[in-house]
Amino acid sequence: MVTSHRGRATRVALGLALVALVAAVGFRAAPAREAFDAWTLSGTSTPALLARALVVRTRNAARMREYAAALQRGKPLAGVRVLVTGATSGLGLGIAGQLALAGAHLVCPHRRPMAAGELAAAIARSANDALREFDGKSGDAADAERTAPLSAQEVDVLGVPGFDLSSFGAIERTAAELARAGVHVSAIVNNAGLVSVSGAATEQGFEQTFGVNFVGTAYWTQLLRQHAVIGRGARVIMVGSEEHRQHALEPDAAEPLGAPTRASWANAMARYGRSKLLLCAYAHELGRRWRADEIAVYDACPGPVASDIARDAPAPVALALAAVLRWTFPSAAEAALPVIALAVDDAFAFGARAPVHHHMSEPRQAGGNASDELLGAWVWARAQELIAARRPAVV
Ligand SMILES: NC(=O)c1ccc[n+]([C@@H]2O[C@H](COP(=O)([O-])OP(=O)(O)OC[C@H]3O[C@@H](n4cnc5c(N)ncnc54)[C@H](OP(=O)(O)O)[C@@H]3O)[C@@H](O)[C@H]2O)c1
Repeated sequence: MVTSHRGRATRVALGLALVALVAAVGFRAAPAREAFDAWTLSGTSTPALLARALVVRTRNAARMREYAAALQRGKPLAGVRVLVTGATSGLGLGIAGQLALAGAHLVCPHRRPMAAGELAAAIARSANDALREFDGKSGDAADAERTAPLSAQEVDVLGVPGFDLSSFGAIERTAAELARAGVHVSAIVNNAGLVSVSGAATEQGFEQTFGVNFVGTAYWTQLLRQHAVIGRGARVIMVGSEEHRQHALEPDAAEPLGAPTRASWANAMARYGRSKLLLCAYAHELGRRWRADEIAVYDACPGPVASDIARDAPAPVALALAAVLRWTFPSAAEAALPVIALAVDDAFAFGARAPVHHHMSEPRQAGGNASDELLGAWVWARAQELIAARRPAVV
């Protein structure tokens, strides 16, 4: 019995490896690539989205390794200021680590209580993990010129504790604190986000995933503009998810945005995908509204990331998912690269008229109806109503 299970498991593993091999080799030939593209582009199921991520990852692997090496040579981002939210874990920490390696000045509002030294030490560890991960991978002699490992003291970071996207008060206090300190950045990476299984209410009474990933992020971004933390020429990156493709929204549908939602573990991913669709539609609309100020707004899905995103699941499921994510998904350092490129690299700056949505290292038409102008205008108007109705009286 045991042998037959093992035998089946081995056959499944070999089968999966063969599919991965065929996919990895096959898409290099144009017809195979087109056929594979057709399936993965039209598919919106999670397997199709994961297959697409595998394609994009393999197709751009060499380019991404070169980009990682470029960030690690000669501090190319010295003097550049970037704000990253959620830099205490997962993707955000991967982004902050490599920006620090490249010499950028970081501004990191964070929710998790952490002393300034602790945050800098975590970012230095992430930076050094990226150095190790890409060691000798760029394939050129310039690898020898890579920067030395970073110490916590060398990380140029302004940590701002007390930042919580589930509280309008905390959002307003953090934005005001940045304004008082005269902080001005060239890019913001709105990476903080979650999959809330419980759907516990935010301070303003929204279901958590909706409240944090969409309303809180929208309000936060608008306040940063009002307080001149970002200005003309800035880039705004909303970290989105391809899961948004599994949904579509109807303006003025029977269930208005922000209405109480019955949350359960069974609808956790649906709530997540819907929140990312709203964020994506909002990013499109924000880009249209801020175009005159040459502020480019992007919605960037990093693809699968080995992170703590499953932490809110029931304990045994969270443990199992954490293991699957760690062993099968790309590292945070790898997933961070296209997001960093969108935020700071001119080669990736497509300007305000370029596709808003990006999937890993490739621009891609947004799914659902996120790029629809009517939907964007409706999402914008609804967000303003929700913010105005529930903002605290005193900041
Ligand atoms: N993992 C994936 O496969 C994947 C795929 C597509 C998109 N994404 C997106 O990538 C982003 C980062 O996720 P991750 O995978 O790196 O997950 P993660 O490891 O759980 O990191 C999430 C980060 O967001 C912060 N955060 C969560 N809720 C917050 C709140 N209410 N206020 C302020 N900060 C908050 C967390 O802060 P604390 O340290 O305080 O908890 C943490 O720093 C998310 O937007 C996620 O939707 C992830």
